Amino acid sequence: MQAMDMQDATVSCPVNIAAPRARMVVANWKMFGNLALCRESLPRLADAANAKVELVVCPPAPYLGEVGRLANRSGVQYGAQDVAEVTHGARTGEWSADMLAELGCRYAIVGHSERRDRHRECNQTVAVKAAMCIAAGVIPIVCVGETMEDRESGNTEAVLAKQLNAILQLMKKNAVFVLAYEPVWAIGTGLAATPEMAQDVHAFLRRQLALFVPEWGESVTILYGGSVKADNAASLFAMPDIDGGLVGGASLNVLDLLSIYRSAMI
Ligand code: PGA
Repeated sequence: MQAMDMQDATVSCPVNIAAPRARMVVANWKMFGNLALCRESLPRLADAANAKVELVVCPPAPYLGEVGRLANRSGVQYGAQDVAEVTHGARTGEWSADMLAELGCRYAIVGHSERRDRHRECNQTVAVKAAMCIAAGVIPIVCVGETMEDRESGNTEAVLAKQLNAILQLMKKNAVFVLAYEPVWAIGTGLAATPEMAQDVHAFLRRQLALFVPEWGESVTILYGGSVKADNAASLFAMPDIDGGLVGGASLNVLDLLSIYRSAMI
């Protein structure tokens, strides 16, 4: 991408979204589920959702319309798992942030490691996607995370700083975004970071955020993701710099998701 394009993508946050630091649990269904799961889980999630903790469902894109219909007027928010880095165009198989906004999506996950890895998304691409969301009034949930190799070679902070800085450079001071720390080695492995390990990284991310905009250190919501389960959620969410979770596998079971959601209500 040319420098000029990056410049053009710099956007400010529309005033219609305001999300100061909040407790949140985000269900990332990845490419799992079906209409039956939408119809079984949304009413139960709607019954449980309350203002203390935001509950967000990110189903596969074909189910966004149904999830939106079922979530209508409930406390459940919904979002996409990805978004295009342009506003429109001959992009078979992609969708824009404006389209998500039109469907009522409040959020879009960007930069998930499965996309960084399988779809070769680089930090710049992720940054532009986040900026596209903000321009459309959709809050990006920006994922960052190190591989086990990065961790073992002592490069965790350097890798995270590089991922984060690419994104922050495109953000205006009033931008609203959520950060998700997802160590790649913890995703789908059953091997979650310990609460202390995750807390250390979240504190580091807050220090990095504050270097860009001092208030961001405190005001940005930072979620932990990577093998969050019903039995480890409470200890992770009890950490002072962890505001909730981005939950993959366990979010496909509505009882597990509700248990994780309750764990965030502390
Ligand atoms: P997991 O996935 O909870 O299945 O580890 C988390 C994620 O990839 O967002």
